[in-house]
Amino acid sequence: MAAPQMPTPDPNPEIKYTQIFINNEFVNSVSGKTFATINPATGDKICDVQEAEKADVDKAVVAARAAFQLGSPWRNMDASQRGRLLLKLAELIERDAAYLSSLETLDNGKPFIHSYFGAVLPSVKDLTYFAGWCDKITGKTIPVDGPYFTYTRLEPIGVCGGIIPWNFPINMFLSKMAPALATGNTVVIKPAEQTPLTALYLASLVKEAGFPPGVVNVLPGFGPTCGAHIAEHMDVDKVAFTGSTEVGKIIQAAAGQSNLKRVSLELGGKSPLIVFSDADLDTAVEQAHQSVFFNQGQVCCAGTRTFVQEGIYDDFVKRSVERAKKRTIGNPFDMRNEQGAQVDQEMFDKVMRLIETGKSQGAKLQHGGSRHGDKGFFIQPTVFSDVQDDMTIAKEEIFGPVMSIFKFKDINEVIDRANNTTYGLSAFVFTKDIDKALTIANSVQAGTVSVNCFHPTATQAPFGGFKQSGHGRELGEYGVHEYCEVKTVTVKLSHKM
Ligand code: NAI
Ligand code: MG
Repeated sequence: MAAPQMPTPDPNPEIKYTQIFINNEFVNSVSGKTFATINPATGDKICDVQEAEKADVDKAVVAARAAFQLGSPWRNMDASQRGRLLLKLAELIERDAAYLSSLETLDNGKPFIHSYFGAVLPSVKDLTYFAGWCDKITGKTIPVDGPYFTYTRLEPIGVCGGIIPWNFPINMFLSKMAPALATGNTVVIKPAEQTPLTALYLASLVKEAGFPPGVVNVLPGFGPTCGAHIAEHMDVDKVAFTGSTEVGKIIQAAAGQSNLKRVSLELGGKSPLIVFSDADLDTAVEQAHQSVFFNQGQVCCAGTRTFVQEGIYDDFVKRSVERAKKRTIGNPFDMRNEQGAQVDQEMFDKVMRLIETGKSQGAKLQHGGSRHGDKGFFIQPTVFSDVQDDMTIAKEEIFGPVMSIFKFKDINEVIDRANNTTYGLSAFVFTKDIDKALTIANSVQAGTVSVNCFHPTATQAPFGGFKQSGHGRELGEYGVHEYCEVKTVTVKLSHKM
C-alpha cells in the first residue's frame, strides 16, 4: 500500500462544535456554564465550550438508554449494518484527516505530524478493525451433562460510560467508542477538559455517518462534576476509564457504591526499559529515546525507568544525551519539530516540580531541566543519569519529557528492580540473546512486553495493565469481550439421541 500523503496543517482550523452532543443534537449545558479550552503552544484561549454537569449526564444517559431499548433502531439493526456504519465513520475521518489533525494539535499541543500519523490514521484502523468484529461475535455450544442443549450468547452490556484523558484525545475516544458500538452498546463519553474539541467534531461525524440518535453522546466537562456522575450513575452499566491511578480508584469505588457497573481501568505506569550490554546500541538508544519523549512524554506506557547494564552504561548515557540535544522542539504546526508543548499549566508545573526533585535528591542532570521558550508549556528534553530506585523520579509517574537512567549488573537483579513498583503496564528489553529476552518477557509484571522495539500498542492486540496500572484490556479480541455480557442458555431435550 502506498504511504499516505502528508496533508498540510492549518494552524487556525475553524472551530465548528463547542456544544454538548446528546441524541444526535448539539445543545447547551443545562446550567448555561461554559469553560475555556487553551492552546498549549501559546497559553491563549481557543474558545469556550459548553460545560456538562450532573443534569447533562442524566439527559445523555436517558438518550443512551432509549437507544438501547429492545425494539429500538439500534437494537434491531443487523450486526453487519453496525459494521457498515463504523466503516462509514472511518471514511469520514479519513476525509477530514487534515482538519482533525490540525484541531488535535491546536487543542493538545502535540506535533501535527503525530496528530496525523499517531492519532487520526490509527483511529481509522481502529474503526475498520472493530467494524470487522460486528458480525463475528459468536458464542459457543457447550456439552453439559444430561439431556440438554447449552449455548452462550455474547450480548451488549448496555449504556457504557467512557472517561478519557487528554494525552491521546482521538485515540482514546475511539478505543472506548469503537468496541462498545461494535458489540451493540450505546455510549456516553466525557473527553478530558483540556482537550474537548476533536471529540465534539467526531460526534458530528457520528451523526453524519447515520448512527441512530442516542447511540453516541459526548459530554465535555470536568472530572468531579461530570465524570464522577457517569461513574456513580445507576443507569450506566459499564465505565471504561483511562487516566491517573488516583482517579481510577475513585471510579472503581463509585461503581462499587452504586450499581456495581462493570469497570475497566487503564491507568498510569512507570515502565522498565532494560538494555543489556549485548544489545544493538544504536537501536536501543533511539528506541529508548522515543519511548520516553514521544508525545512530550505524556504516555502511560513510556519506558521511563531506563535500566542499562554496567558495561555500556557510560556510552549509553553519552549517546542518549547527544540524541536529546538533537531533539527539535517548538511550534507543533512546524513539521520540523519532534516535540510540542505539555498539555497545560498544571502538567507543566508538575513536570518541572519533579525535575527539581530529581536534582535535589542527587540524580545527575545531563541535559535539559528547564522550560523551552517564553510562552506556552514547552519543556526541554531532560536526561538524568545515576538515578537510584528510591528517588521520587524513580517512583512517581512524571508524564513529561524526562529520561531517568539506572545502572544494573545482572539479569536477576534487574528483574527484581523492574518489578519493584506499584505499576505494571509495559516493559521493554533490548538484547540479541533470545534466552534473556524471553526470560524478561516471562518475568516482568506488565501487560505488554516489547523486545528490541518500542511498540506497546496495536489495534489488533490487547493493551492494559497488571497491578495498579489497571485491569481489563482494550483493543484486540479481548477489547471486544470487555463490552459483552456472556449469557448461558440451556434447553431441555425430550428425546434421547
Ligand atoms: P485524571 O485521571 O485526573 O484525568 C483523566 C480523566 O478523568 C479526565 O477526563 C478527567 O476529567 C477525569 N476525572 C478526573 N477526576 C475525576 C473524578 N473524580 N471522577 C471521574 N472522572 C474524573 O488525570 P490528570 O489530572 O489529567 O493527570 C494526572 C496524572 O494522571 C498525570 O500526571 C499522569 O501521571 C496520569 N495520567 C495518565 C494517563 C494515562 O494515559 N494512563 C492519561 C492522563 C493522565
Ligand atoms: Mg486530575
